[in-house]
Amino acid sequence: MTDAPRDAREIGVGLISVGWMGRLHSRAYTNVPQVYPDLGLRPRLVQAADTAEAGRAYARDVLGYASTTADYHEVLANPEVEVVSICAPNFLHAEIGIAAAKAGKPFWIEKPVGRGEADTAAVRDAAIEAGVATTIGFNYRHPPAIQLARKLVDEGALGTITNVRGRFFGGFNADPNAPRAWRFVREQSGSGVLGDLMGHLVDLVHFLLGPIGAVTASTGTFIHERPGVPGSPDEGKLLPVENEDYANLLIRFDETALASTALGTLDASWIAVGPKAEYAIEIFGTNGSLRWNFERMNELELAVREADGSVGYRRLLADATFPEFSRFQPSAGTPMGYDDLKTIEANKFLLAATGRPSDTSNIHDALASAQVLTAAEESAASGQWVATPVIEGSTANIRTGGDAR
Ligand SMILES: NC(=O)c1ccc[n+]([C@@H]2O[C@H](COP(=O)([O-])OP(=O)(O)OC[C@H]3O[C@@H](n4cnc5c(N)ncnc54)[C@H](O)[C@@H]3O)[C@@H](O)[C@H]2O)c1
Repeated sequence: MTDAPRDAREIGVGLISVGWMGRLHSRAYTNVPQVYPDLGLRPRLVQAADTAEAGRAYARDVLGYASTTADYHEVLANPEVEVVSICAPNFLHAEIGIAAAKAGKPFWIEKPVGRGEADTAAVRDAAIEAGVATTIGFNYRHPPAIQLARKLVDEGALGTITNVRGRFFGGFNADPNAPRAWRFVREQSGSGVLGDLMGHLVDLVHFLLGPIGAVTASTGTFIHERPGVPGSPDEGKLLPVENEDYANLLIRFDETALASTALGTLDASWIAVGPKAEYAIEIFGTNGSLRWNFERMNELELAVREADGSVGYRRLLADATFPEFSRFQPSAGTPMGYDDLKTIEANKFLLAATGRPSDTSNIHDALASAQVLTAAEESAASGQWVATPVIEGSTANIRTGGDAR
């Protein structure tokens, strides 16, 4: 691998919120010139905003931002900031996303974009009006095994897709003594596991198989109270959890979807005891099936009916035949990691932000996912199927002429 060309253009980066995702976005910007020297850009970490002094200190002293501020508006007004990462808690996404668009700054924003469909639609409208490029933190699109899966589905290797089964099971909120942080408060987070994990799974299904056309769902909360955040005025109190821990969806696809006649079941939990990041998807077709699990991100299991009628799963381990893999590792089977997914995402964002062709996710994809989640909440309340019309501009996998399968 070569380094970025010496004449790579510097591009000024602004960061809003220096939590887990803010730090990860920053590492991705730093990695991009080495992994994608052909991008011709060298991100410069210009300014970071966080209301917490600890976040600002980390941005300045560890990540190397040239300056920091408690007020994100300063980042958006900074003329040296050309692109912005928005990594704030969900309740701030709408106001920050709209402000970024109005400031004319392309933005890479974490999912879910806001607390629900209305927040996401407002950000979408502002981005369209300003004509700024957007990328969403839908990082589970990027593992080379998933990109290979999409290629296999597109080529018809599985035949006609009959059904999809997805489960995104995490245990990060399984401890009932974990504090009631912003994620459990409706005003700050919107939905619970729907926005947190199901939003990723819905986007992954859109990416692999096409737009979901209708949904019915049920949701449940199983840990009803959690202790107040230590050091906050709520320390020592038990407070109500205001959103769901678990959700399951039955889905049908839109007629334009690559898998238009398929059916599916998707479920997500953030209180699963056992699975830690079991973000898994299985796709079945008339000629074969495939399955992937983020806990074994570098593997794809594939079963395709052979000419003699035999069938069985083969475990494909990532190597140079997997899309993007050679960017990261020269040696077959050497595992890639989660950070690498964000480096792939950063490259797609910077391509789009500098007006070049990019297969990045975008704000329309965020709205498509949010719409399904809102429909799921409506369905969980009413018991009815709810339609989810196609969102124009999304990059969901649609049929491109004829009934190819
Ligand atoms: N793509 C993924 O896989 C993934 C994973 C985790 C989180 N996320 C998303 O990323 C977003 C952030 O999550 P996180 O885990 O990094 O959160 P976090 O709690 O680690 O960090 C949030 C940060 O925001 C700061 N903040 C709060 N109010 C602010 C304000 N007014 N201005 C500036 N900063 C402010 C906090 O001080 C904190 O540093 C969420 O939307 C979450 O859903 C995405």
